[in-house]
Amino acid sequence: MSQAVAHRVIILGAQSAIAEAAARLFAAEGAQLVLAGRDLGRLNEIGDDLRVRGAAAVNAMELDLVAERSPIARLAEADEALGGASVILIAFGVLGDEERAETDAGEARRIIDGNFTSAAVWALAAANLLERRRAGVLMAIGSVAGDRGRASNAVYGAAKAGLAALMQGIAHRLAGTGARALVIKPGTVDTPMTAAFDKGPLWSKPEAIARVIWRAADRGGPVLYAPRWWRYLMWIVRAMPAPIMHRTRL
Ligand SMILES: NC(=O)c1ccc[n+]([C@@H]2O[C@H](COP(=O)([O-])OP(=O)(O)OC[C@H]3O[C@@H](n4cnc5c(N)ncnc54)[C@H](OP(=O)(O)O)[C@@H]3O)[C@@H](O)[C@H]2O)c1
Repeated sequence: MSQAVAHRVIILGAQSAIAEAAARLFAAEGAQLVLAGRDLGRLNEIGDDLRVRGAAAVNAMELDLVAERSPIARLAEADEALGGASVILIAFGVLGDEERAETDAGEARRIIDGNFTSAAVWALAAANLLERRRAGVLMAIGSVAGDRGRASNAVYGAAKAGLAALMQGIAHRLAGTGARALVIKPGTVDTPMTAAFDKGPLWSKPEAIARVIWRAADRGGPVLYAPRWWRYLMWIVRAMPAPIMHRTRL
């Protein structure tokens, strides 16, 4: 399990089930972590568990990652606590109510802000930090929903598409600096976010996505599907002509 060097990891949205599973893999290699999220009690519980699993140090930061107006300063604090992060993972997100968003501008805005606008400002702050250091990897969790607009998640998918485009642009900008950036696109994952959905054969556990994240700390990108076979499935979905697509409820 252990990688060559234990990482120093900032997780923005550390209460996410996918992020927690990834944090466990980093903890097992003896990583130091800063966990940011909006429930300090829950972050401390996760931190206690990570220490038992081998984490060298865990700090919790109570932050509303969507409402926060000083991401540069907050990220600098987290970075300083680690003596320089080697991994910055943007994991938070909101599914929202797509049907409501069709008629309620507030809900549409909440989905876009919760998945794109806020993630974008954290990503830009993180990119600047790693670019100056000429080291480290920035990862953001996008979604296969961003690969093609569909009726069932048009707003969420659009926000994730924006995040993926931004991360590819940041990866391009960082190329050759020693720092890296990438977007991880999970398929359907059994987490609190999707608790209301019936699960079928295309569903994964958070641990499968966590393994892709953990490996990407050392190599890969700038676009990683998780699990990997989603790349091929989404190739078919993207290639499907609109007249056929519009006859389905995919
Ligand atoms: N599950 C899937 O099928 C799936 C598929 C593709 C992509 N993703 C993406 O994967 C990422 C992780 O989601 P998940 O599946 O692990 O679901 P999750 O367990 O529900 O995690 C989402 C996390 O985002 C946090 N969050 C939302 N708004 C926040 C805010 N303003 N400040 C701080 N934290 C905030 C939530 O915090 P609270 O606990 O405080 O609410 C929650 O812990 C998300 O970006 C999601 O869009 C998920």
